[in-house]
Parts: sequence; structure tokens; C-alpha cells
Amino acid sequence: MHLVLENIKSVLNKEELTVADRLEKVCQLLQDSNSHYDWVGFYFADPDKRELHLGPFVGEPTNHLVIPFGKGICGQVAENNESFVVPDVEVQDNYIACSIDVRSEIVVPLFVEGKNVGQIDIDSHTPNAFSEDDERLLEKVNIEVAKIL
Ligand code: SME
Repeated sequence: MHLVLENIKSVLNKEELTVADRLEKVCQLLQDSNSHYDWVGFYFADPDKRELHLGPFVGEPTNHLVIPFGKGICGQVAENNESFVVPDVEVQDNYIACSIDVRSEIVVPLFVEGKNVGQIDIDSHTPNAFSEDDERLLEKVNIEVAKIL
């Protein structure tokens, strides 16, 4: 099993930390173990308002604290319930740029009891940075995160 996943599980079990602190450490562990992960963060859904709200993250601060469902890669994942890998952000129509340095992105939905409650979003300064391996890893991370939400 992926070593980072083991480390993530042990951080998530630290009940002495708040959920937000644990999630920020998860972001940090992911970034530290993957050189192509330049920004790692969680967005959480407010289904009544049909908005995503930025949660814990590591990397450059972003202006996109709230993203309406349907807008950008994140907003599309909130509606479609499917992972979205963007090899080249410059050719995406429905994309919200967080930084001019970002070249590729992956967003993987986070399900709690079958409900899409948010997502993990990763930006890379490397073009075409994300593979199936990243998608599988992040699905596993989200399964672990869901257990503490
Ligand atoms: N690029 C995302 C917006 C979030 S930032 O990457 C942090 C999008 O298109 O939804």
C-alpha cells in the first residue's frame, strides 16, 4: 500500500486535532510526497446554496473561496459526481484560474454515505501532471477522509 496513504490514515486518527487541522495535514502530506502537487485543497458543498466553500488547503492563497455549482472544474464535479482530470487548463472553457502558473488540475469528489459532500482539488504547474495513479490515490484518500466527517 502507498506509504502516503498510511501516513494520511494515522493523521486522520489524531482525535486530539480538529477536523480542519487534520485535513490541512492531509494536504501537506500529499504535497510533500508528490512534487507535481503544487496546490492541494478541499472544497465542501453547501447544497442549499448550491455552492462550494474552500476548506483546508496548502499552497498559494486563492481568491476562490466560494465556487457556485456548475462553475469551473470544481463546480462541474459538484454536479457530475465524477473525477475530472484536466491535462491542459488552457483549453478548458469552463475553468476558473487560481494562478497563472497552473497548467493541469485534478478534482476528485468526496462522498459520505453516497452523497457528494465536497472534493479534493489539486493544481500542478506541470502540464499533464496527473495520471490514473493520482486518481486512484485520491479516491482512497477521500474514502479515509469521509470516515471522520
Ligand atoms: N481551478 C478550479 C478553481 C479552484 S482553484 O484551482 C484553487 C476550477 O476551475 O474549478
